[in-house]
Amino acid sequence: MINTQMKRANSLFILLALVAINSSAQTKKTIPASQSKMDIFINSLLSKMTIDEKIGQLNLLTGGEATTGAAVSTDVESKIAKGNVGGIFSMTTPDKIRKTQEIAMKSRLKIPLIFGQDVIHGYKTTFPIPLALAASWDLSLIEKTARVAATEASADGLSWTFSPMVDIARDARWGRIAEGSGEDTYLGSQIAKVMVKGYQGDNLSKYNTIMACVKHFALYGAAEAGRDYNTTDMSLDRMYNDYLPPYKAALDAGAGSIMVSFNDINGVPATANKWLLTDVLRKQWGFKGFVVSDYTGVSELIDHGLGDLKTVSALSLKAGTDMDMVSEGFLSTLKQSLKEGKVTTAQIDNACRLILQAKYKLGLFEDPFRYCNEERAKKEILTPANIQFAREAATKTFVLLKNQNQTLPLKKSGTIALVGPLGNTKSNMPGTWSVNSDMNLVPSLLEGLKNVGGNNVKIVYSLGSNLTTDETLQINSTMFGREIPRDNRNEGELIKEAVQNASKADVVIAALGESSEMSGESSSRTDIGIPESQKRLLAALLKTGKPVVLVLFTGRPLAIKWESENVPAILNVWFGGIQTTNAIADVLFGDVNPSGKLPVTFPQNIGQVPIYYSHKNTGRPLPDGKWFTKFKSNYLDVSNEPLYPFGFGLSYTTFTYEGLKLSSNTLKPNQKITVTTTVTNTGKFAGEEIVQLYTRDLVGTSTRPVKELKGFQKIKLQPGESKMVTFNLTEEDLKFYTSDLKFVAEPGDFKVFVGPNVKDVKEADFKLVN
Ligand code: NOJ
Repeated sequence: MINTQMKRANSLFILLALVAINSSAQTKKTIPASQSKMDIFINSLLSKMTIDEKIGQLNLLTGGEATTGAAVSTDVESKIAKGNVGGIFSMTTPDKIRKTQEIAMKSRLKIPLIFGQDVIHGYKTTFPIPLALAASWDLSLIEKTARVAATEASADGLSWTFSPMVDIARDARWGRIAEGSGEDTYLGSQIAKVMVKGYQGDNLSKYNTIMACVKHFALYGAAEAGRDYNTTDMSLDRMYNDYLPPYKAALDAGAGSIMVSFNDINGVPATANKWLLTDVLRKQWGFKGFVVSDYTGVSELIDHGLGDLKTVSALSLKAGTDMDMVSEGFLSTLKQSLKEGKVTTAQIDNACRLILQAKYKLGLFEDPFRYCNEERAKKEILTPANIQFAREAATKTFVLLKNQNQTLPLKKSGTIALVGPLGNTKSNMPGTWSVNSDMNLVPSLLEGLKNVGGNNVKIVYSLGSNLTTDETLQINSTMFGREIPRDNRNEGELIKEAVQNASKADVVIAALGESSEMSGESSSRTDIGIPESQKRLLAALLKTGKPVVLVLFTGRPLAIKWESENVPAILNVWFGGIQTTNAIADVLFGDVNPSGKLPVTFPQNIGQVPIYYSHKNTGRPLPDGKWFTKFKSNYLDVSNEPLYPFGFGLSYTTFTYEGLKLSSNTLKPNQKITVTTTVTNTGKFAGEEIVQLYTRDLVGTSTRPVKELKGFQKIKLQPGESKMVTFNLTEEDLKFYTSDLKFVAEPGDFKVFVGPNVKDVKEADFKLVN
């Protein structure tokens, strides 16, 4: 009832505003014909707002359901009532959000709040972590995960998600590599686009779409030494060609907002970086949405060394940060800065306008309770179809790294010894940043294997090893309720028990690797191997002579050279969401054939990091096939090769690639050449293959990478079936930013490569002419 009244009151308010503006327009003729309804409405509203109310809109507070910093917001309700708050994040459910929105509806101008949340890889139906989703290379699948997430989140009161995270990451030490799409600019940009589409649909004001917030702008994934929040110092060449395109792709796809990163960029932290937030974002890219800081990003500028709260708040606003998350620096200092002439009314108005526009586009002025529908929440969250889709999605993300002697798939009979700290935990399965997952709904791997294996399989579980021998490391790696209980018996006893069970089994499944909180925010590691106690367990299991399958849980590329040399089968399963264990069992028992491919390079050892395929050639490249050559660019102690290259992943079947044909060896502007190859399934299982196309620009005014992904196609083939795969290449695909930042393709010689991963490719030559 109250809602209907408020809805009516608000619609009346909009109508009056429109009438007022229209009549004044008729008399004074000051309003350009091009003004949209939205502009008219917001101009009218702005004209009624006090400076305090305007600054209030720039203030984003946390509802406290999940915190990612030391600060928490206090007196939230009284601040809302005074019109001192523009939005709330980390608060869910229609009930709580309705109550909070009602407070805003009682404030003087009844401006609705926007409600945000980190809906990162699904909402309650949690999907695989973003790095895993990238391993599917399946754009329609990824778009659908975002669509389902938006449907569920909007049914639970939310209208804004802090996703997609599109930071390119090439340093596996950085824990947040788990939250993005990996190392590659092209793949990352494609994924960025479809995620925005999935969240926002084609109409933001629809009840089941939410606004995307692209993050973290910019270069957050290039933190020095892989240490979270650390400094970034980067050339314009690398920025424009490698790191910036995914942000731009997401914005070009229509993302309504963008979040600023925590890091220093070439001497100016992003939150106060005018070049980044105004010159690049607004002037070069024409972004029209709003810019929000990260959690206390504004007040952290004090520790960066830019001044006191008043100074850094003014700096941030002037640079282009519109909304201040949690610091309350804008709220507490901007009015004074205005009096002192340090900021202008126009700067405050501009930021306020952008935030009001976002609310308008979401339809919040029309109906502040649009996203609070208890009935929808009951019906549309965690539906059987969504849960089934989560299972299907997870199966597409696993990467089969090794399968000697066809150890996999397993038979649904006999005895399986399931061993390891990841084998019997529910809470560690969904993956980092899954605050909305109900861990009780997540089957453990033990349960998943039983569900799929059926009654003819006997499964015996033993822990075998704690996550790590270091108790403090374990505590820090299992926060937010993601515990893995410790067993206080000594290591020898734990291993003995596991070995005894393994000796009696037909096959051993070793569920090892990282806990889910060993990756994600503030979870960087300097050792990116499987923890040593787990490795000792694995060695003991291998000594039994039983076939061992390593089911590897990880949120980053791990250094697993020893494992890859010694374990017959390795299935990399990342962290796959609430249905991951059923999905793992689907794949282990062969109900689903694995098809994922690595979106990141796996190093041989930590010393190779950062390692990525699209590196430059150097003036002293190592000759092909060589390891060490004096005075060449290489290491004494390890080859330059990765352990597993970008794009790599096996299947239970085998694929061959025949021929690589170009329609012409000359590419002219405004024309295309087609590149074709024939792929055949030469094995016994139906399977999916991800066919990848790379190019190399051989001569130019700037140095270019040795390979760049420019296209990929996922195809499905029955045993014995062949398909011709065709890619089109145009001049557009060959464009890059030159040293004077012109986006051009330079005529000359190119190579094109096609294959199942970046390394095992066939190549051909062509020329771009003008
Ligand atoms: C900090 C994280 O960096 C960011 O990704 C997240 O969206 C905010 N906290 C809000 O939770």
